[in-house]
Amino acid sequence: MMSVLGVLGAGAMGSGIAQVAATNGWEVQLVDINEDAISSAQVKLQKILNRQVEKGRMTDIEVKGIMGRIYFGSSMQAFEKADLIIEAIVENMDIKKKVFKSIEEIVSDDCILATNTSSLSVTQIAASLDNPSRMVGIHFFNPAPLMKLVEIIPAVQSDHDIVSKSQKIVDNWGKYTVLAKDTPGFIVNKVARPFYSESIKIYEEGIADVATIDWVMTELGGFRMGPFTLTDYIGHDVNYKVTESVWKAFYYDGRYKPSFAQKSLVDAGYLGRKTGRGFYDYSEGAAKPEADKNVEKGTIVLHRVLAMLINEAADTVYMGICNEEAVETAMTKGVNYPKGLLEWGEELGFGYIVNLLDALYNRYHEERYRVSPWLRDRA
Ligand code: NAI
Repeated sequence: MMSVLGVLGAGAMGSGIAQVAATNGWEVQLVDINEDAISSAQVKLQKILNRQVEKGRMTDIEVKGIMGRIYFGSSMQAFEKADLIIEAIVENMDIKKKVFKSIEEIVSDDCILATNTSSLSVTQIAASLDNPSRMVGIHFFNPAPLMKLVEIIPAVQSDHDIVSKSQKIVDNWGKYTVLAKDTPGFIVNKVARPFYSESIKIYEEGIADVATIDWVMTELGGFRMGPFTLTDYIGHDVNYKVTESVWKAFYYDGRYKPSFAQKSLVDAGYLGRKTGRGFYDYSEGAAKPEADKNVEKGTIVLHRVLAMLINEAADTVYMGICNEEAVETAMTKGVNYPKGLLEWGEELGFGYIVNLLDALYNRYHEERYRVSPWLRDRA
């Protein structure tokens, strides 16, 4: 019998998840309260799949099969026969709790309930259920059909078998899954913070300008996009909010402190590409700033950002949020880093990284440069 997935929320994430499951032979009930969102999801998905046919990656028959397995609707009653529900609605704790309470009344007793939340506590959402042991976090990345990583987040109350069953399902959809403890930002959104924040700090201090730092990170570091091009692309409203929420959730740990330079962009409405201006000016005829392509100076900048990233990866393992293998998979598959951060640290030398961070700490006396015990032990 065909397995049935219920997806609540037909926005960017919900539609993407529906596509992934239907492509892998699942029947999908995609539900949204907003009728426009449903019709728009249907039109967009058909377009995406048609493009796959044009590119020769799929046949017409395959596309018809996928579309035929997805039911677009507005009533959660469609979840009655579901084996798994993935919720992808607005990022609001009260609404999510309320919605799961209603879902629980509709689905069968052995249906697994999952949330795609990026920043809320899975444990807290689970607490709203009569049976919290069937709740798990299944965190996809945007766009879900393209991004290979999925973080699986057990709630404190989760049943072990339900967690491994969920992980197997997503593995069978062709994804790389990693287990992460239910902590702010899980793995990727936590470990990636210094990529932005340390780069912005270097810029704020006038050590290098945005074009130079972007050049350093892409050309010398091998990252696909520099931090300023990338945050302009993500949108400063979104990126700032993630930083701020991780910072608050870690009890205002200085390690995750947001930066004024980014806050000012948000205040000004310079949200990046979508508004025509962010760190860069995207208006027609705007001059493109030139990078200072000095490899020696650039390497110092690169190592400073890398040291911060490696330290964050190490501390994530130290805190038991995930194991070493998971943090490597998470950053290479979730955000396409050119290399696992622990591997990179070993290559540069853990002793070198520790000395670099200690020197920064001595200079600034800021918590952000606190060396993880994991790293110090290895050094
Ligand atoms: P979105 O705004 O594109 O879509 C949300 C959809 O949920 C909308 O169509 C809305 O009409 C619908 N909705 C809202 N309340 C509802 C309710 N009570 N019942 C049914 N439908 C409802 O949002 P997006 O970006 O797809 O995000 C959804 C979830 O996924 C959020 O929890 C977000 O944190 C998480 N997420 C987002 C990522 C991203 O990059 N956008 C990445 C990973 C997770």
